[in-house]
Amino acid sequence: MKDFTPETFGELNAEDYDALHDPGTTAASVDLIETLANGGKVLELAIGTGRVALPLAARGLEVHGVEASQLMVDQLRAKDGGADIPVLISDMSEFQLDTRFNFAFLIFNTLFNLTSQEAQLRCFQTVANHLEPGGAFLVEAFVPYVTTFTDNQRLRTGHVGMDKVFLEAITHDPVEQMFNYQRVLMTPDGNQMTPLPMRYAWPAEIDLMARLAGLEREARWGSWDGKPFTGKSEMHVSLYRKPAA
Ligand SMILES: C[S@@+](CC[C@H](N)C(=O)[O-])C[C@H]1O[C@@H](n2cnc3c(N)ncnc32)[C@H](O)[C@@H]1O
Repeated sequence: MKDFTPETFGELNAEDYDALHDPGTTAASVDLIETLANGGKVLELAIGTGRVALPLAARGLEVHGVEASQLMVDQLRAKDGGADIPVLISDMSEFQLDTRFNFAFLIFNTLFNLTSQEAQLRCFQTVANHLEPGGAFLVEAFVPYVTTFTDNQRLRTGHVGMDKVFLEAITHDPVEQMFNYQRVLMTPDGNQMTPLPMRYAWPAEIDLMARLAGLEREARWGSWDGKPFTGKSEMHVSLYRKPAA
């Protein structure tokens, strides 16, 4: 998957992103982010089609975005209110805006779309540079599910029908902390492949990246509705804060 660039996700997914990527947590995400942002200026990294940014803006928050894919932003622009959100087309690991924010967030495992530790760390540093003193950064990510692999590979059958097979194939490189993921839809008319390479990080490594960027962890939940994070949690919502000046 060497040719997977920051724009590739949008090229492969923009058209049917909203139909195929509903995590079922949007309402709870919007509620928590609205509470934590407390009326301040908000930045969403990898804003996508505005799944969370648009409802936040509708509640009166000033939301800005950074996004690598113009195709994803085109989908956002086509929605009610989508033309009013300022979006910088850029790689989220290194961007520069003149605005400073009280709250930033990067959700739906998208930190892992940056496929090296260097890029992930740079992303934290870039966010920290764009936060006001006392501002916060929220990250939602899965806890790496490495125990579900056998011989560093995993194949799951999503659907088998008379004229349709849907498979999810992943190989795991534990040294590089990479999941090379491929969604395959097979039909009589042909096969459709949707790759997504992800460089995963354990929660403790994410805390360390935040700390290196000058942010301290303030909270970690095991769900958007505030369940405790435990050894059984499959995901985490983590909140980091920049010290007040
Ligand atoms: C899973 S979607 C999440 C979109 C939105 N945040 C949401 O929660 O629905 C991942 C998004 O990250 C964007 N993306 C991937 N790599 C990126 C990068 N390096 N810089 C900026 N955006 C990136 C993709 O184009 C896509 O819009």
